[in-house]
Amino acid sequence: MNRIAQIFETLDYGPAPESPDPALAWLDSHGKKFGHFIDGKWTKPGATFSSDNPATGESLALVTNGTPEDVDKAVKAARAAFKGWSALSGYERGRYLYAIARAIQKHSRLFAVLESLDNGKPIRESRDLDIPLVARHFYHHAGWAQHVAREFPGRVPYGVCGQIIPWNFPLLMLAWKIAPALAAGNTVILKPAEFTSLTALLFAEICERIGLPKGVVNIVTGMGETGEAIVAHEGIDKIAFTGSTEVGKAIRAATAGTGKGLSLELGGKSPYLVFEDADIDSAIEGLVDAIWFNQGQVCCAGSRLLIQESIEERFIAKLKKRMATLRVGDPLDKAIDIGALVAPVQVERIRDLMKKGTAEGAVVYEPDGDPLPERGCFLRPALVTNVSPANTLVEEEIFGPVLVAMSFRTPEEAVALANNTRYGLAATIWSENINLALDIAPRIKAGVVWINGTNNFDAAVGFGGYKESGFGREGGREGMAVYLKPAWEKDLKSLPAAAKAAPKAPSPLDTDLLDQTAKMYIGGKQARPDSGYSRGVFAPDGKLVGEVGEGNRKDIRNAVEAARAALGWGTTAAHTRAQVLYFLAENLDYRRDEFAARIKAQTGKDGAAEVAASIERLFAFAAWADKYDGAVHNPPIRAVAAAMVEPIGVMAIVAPEEQPLLGAVALLAPALAMGNPVVLVPSQTAPLCVTDLYQVLETSDVPSGVVNIVTGDAVTLAKTLAEHDGVDVMWFFGTPEASAMVEKASIGNLKQTWTSRGRAIDLFDRERFEGDYWLARATQVKNVWIPYGA
Ligand code: NAI
Repeated sequence: MNRIAQIFETLDYGPAPESPDPALAWLDSHGKKFGHFIDGKWTKPGATFSSDNPATGESLALVTNGTPEDVDKAVKAARAAFKGWSALSGYERGRYLYAIARAIQKHSRLFAVLESLDNGKPIRESRDLDIPLVARHFYHHAGWAQHVAREFPGRVPYGVCGQIIPWNFPLLMLAWKIAPALAAGNTVILKPAEFTSLTALLFAEICERIGLPKGVVNIVTGMGETGEAIVAHEGIDKIAFTGSTEVGKAIRAATAGTGKGLSLELGGKSPYLVFEDADIDSAIEGLVDAIWFNQGQVCCAGSRLLIQESIEERFIAKLKKRMATLRVGDPLDKAIDIGALVAPVQVERIRDLMKKGTAEGAVVYEPDGDPLPERGCFLRPALVTNVSPANTLVEEEIFGPVLVAMSFRTPEEAVALANNTRYGLAATIWSENINLALDIAPRIKAGVVWINGTNNFDAAVGFGGYKESGFGREGGREGMAVYLKPAWEKDLKSLPAAAKAAPKAPSPLDTDLLDQTAKMYIGGKQARPDSGYSRGVFAPDGKLVGEVGEGNRKDIRNAVEAARAALGWGTTAAHTRAQVLYFLAENLDYRRDEFAARIKAQTGKDGAAEVAASIERLFAFAAWADKYDGAVHNPPIRAVAAAMVEPIGVMAIVAPEEQPLLGAVALLAPALAMGNPVVLVPSQTAPLCVTDLYQVLETSDVPSGVVNIVTGDAVTLAKTLAEHDGVDVMWFFGTPEASAMVEKASIGNLKQTWTSRGRAIDLFDRERFEGDYWLARATQVKNVWIPYGA
């Protein structure tokens, strides 16, 4: 029987190969050897390494391993280009981005074939998803270039951005990085991942062809060390990274104290929840897309299946049947579902994790199916069952075609299991009951939630993580915001070093005051310091005006615990939060004179203006509480994406020394308005106006645990707060050294930080600090995709 007759007989897929020839011809046109693309020119190749085809193991081309000198050259080129590029009108910049989008569309097949050759992903995916999304991203951001000045008044580009990307979506991640950076007026140095440099190099050629001004985009290839050199370079103003959480943490530590902007898009272990009323067949098709798309090498892969117990058996049986029909093989065959993994080392990594998981009791199912290709990095789809929440395969990001299944009984349990992870990138919910789905979505700690769908992406809809999945967003308005900063930040002066000599410490017993030691305020109650020590508060003339508790690690732990118990503040209606803040302002108003006198006693300065500004600030943020909210996007599929503004979680605030009342209130107000419970460390030298706030808080209906106050040595307490995994976000006022310490110590749970780095920040300034400056830092956006259509 001939081949066609045979296919009719079996109704099996025939081969549908895509030719690699045009891509190979392009590689040949560069002699299969590449230097970097710096300052609009190709450098001579240096020490090279091979970029291999993971489906065959054959070398496709040699690319240069970038040295610190190469990085330096690229930074100089980007710096030189910045002035001209940022001075172009939005329209002019938009025209370049538009030209890039057009060129990518025009050469889309070449890009798709090259991507599949280099990465191993099925051509169906690179052709129908990766490359169209890349073009869409440049089109969308061509529009942002045009309107950025109008939409983000008072913001300016960072300058030179260093961008480091992974290998799972090589060109798409490049687009997610370069398009918004350029639209905002930055210039870039981008390093592709060492396994997949080729489409970035083809992109460089597109930049050359469309006449992008030299130095605006620089592509430097290389290994992890090249990435390290980019992170370390002093001439870079902002780092944007996508990749493993481990490297993300190393980059956070390396940039600590440098003042570089930072956005991180890291790993995930995203839950895929199927409720008993779900459309099971659709949920299974969604699951195929969630975990076997791109061989499971997807940061937002739905890798943790959580099924309601009542349908578990039926669901798993159907799933296994579907798995048996998945076809693994040549990525350039259009009838293939699962291609090659990116490199042998990734296959090894997955196998090691599987071994560990099975040793811990997991049971692995892999369908028989056709034999795997004899060479290349291929794995069958795998389903893992019989696991506890602590199994390695449940906890670790596998980044391969491996699905882990568990069951739940109630929606409460589903939410608890879904959130039982250090990650928070994405989640999927399947249920025909929209009430249930929309009840669950806000309760899941993840940056993206898909209802009855999965892996939907669009340039207009932000993407990014909660918790250890990173911070910052890519796409949409939020994605633009991370490439812009307030224009005034560059003019900030350094605070003069503390001139005031610390008063001579009196004997601990030597006080003639009736005991007025202010206590801590934790969980709505006044609490004695765990240390059993207190510290003096002195007037400028050295006279003791009072004492406060000497807070320690234990007090911080108690305060964080109380704040975590008060996380419900985040779901309290915004109107109610506004009312509480107004009430707080009113009650402070009643005691204006008393607070002003307290400020005077500690600082020697008239406190009336500071109290007035504090009251006004409370009003300002009470007003914001129900106004700083989200958007509804209209992506190009039959769905809406609701961009919900959510609080980040427990916030630690270490207030400035100066303006002891306003310094605390100006930060507390936005944090509370947006729903974050707070642990506040007041001014170390003048804490009494904040300890006096207890009574005001108590009379203003602030729920217990929403504001916790710990007095003591600010830097010591800051260190404990920065290291505490129960703190989700931290704002710190202090010296450059202490700011660096806070940023470095934050890597445990990758908490978001803002530090003053010793700069003089005048919180009196209404223009700057009554608007969205702090609001943006007190919130994160979750995009919930909701499909429509019967
Ligand atoms: P990786 O995080 O090491 O690599 C990502 C990029 O960072 C590459 O361009 C690499 O050259 C660069 N890099 C590596 N070390 C660096 C350093 N110290 N400083 C600056 N740049 C550095 O990821 P890798 O090793 O390729 O993959 C390991 C695991 O990471 C995967 O198995 C997967 O679990 C996870 N991963 C997650 C991704 C995501 O999008 N969430 C993407 C890639 C990997």
